[in-house]
Amino acid sequence: MKKLAFIASGNGSNFENVVREIQAGTVPAEAVVLLCDKPGAKCLERAARLGVTAEVVDRKQFADRAAFEARLAELVDLYQADYIVLAGFMRILSADFVHRYEKRLINIHPSYLPAFPGAHAIRDAFEAKVKETGVTVHFVIAEVDAGPVILQEKLPIRPDDTLESLETRVHDLEYKLYPAALRQLLS
Ligand code: GRF
Repeated sequence: MKKLAFIASGNGSNFENVVREIQAGTVPAEAVVLLCDKPGAKCLERAARLGVTAEVVDRKQFADRAAFEARLAELVDLYQADYIVLAGFMRILSADFVHRYEKRLINIHPSYLPAFPGAHAIRDAFEAKVKETGVTVHFVIAEVDAGPVILQEKLPIRPDDTLESLETRVHDLEYKLYPAALRQLLS
């Protein structure tokens, strides 16, 4: 069984959803650790509830990004993770880190890439008044919100959508797509 290390900064609903599928036996993997860069983040409560080991790697405790990432890498290797699953990790990883885990580092992004990269993808799509957006699961490369696509799906934006209703539907699609992409990758 492949081992997954998750990295999250905040809410962690995608982390929880994937772990629930792992625990239900619908994603063939083992969730070995959650790494979180924000003390007190909600994803840590979720990890405790789910019985997944969590480690806080607080960026503020490190002199620079290289030292912070060295600790992340140390933990990933300590837990012998085969893949790193980013789930709302709000920092940009260096090219060194990305190269070290090439084809083992996975991200989910709430748009149909290459459209709407960046931290506000759902809002950007909504405000652009486009007819559709989507969700993308992809391997991480040094360029942000780019890299080989594992799975992506479009989602129509309805004329009566509000930003809130669109966000809900994008997240619901994420909860379907991340497990599906991992299933595809791992089986
Ligand atoms: C998701 O929309 C994901 O696509 C993006 O960050 C958000 C994380 O949400 N990368 P959550 O923490 O999983 O609830």
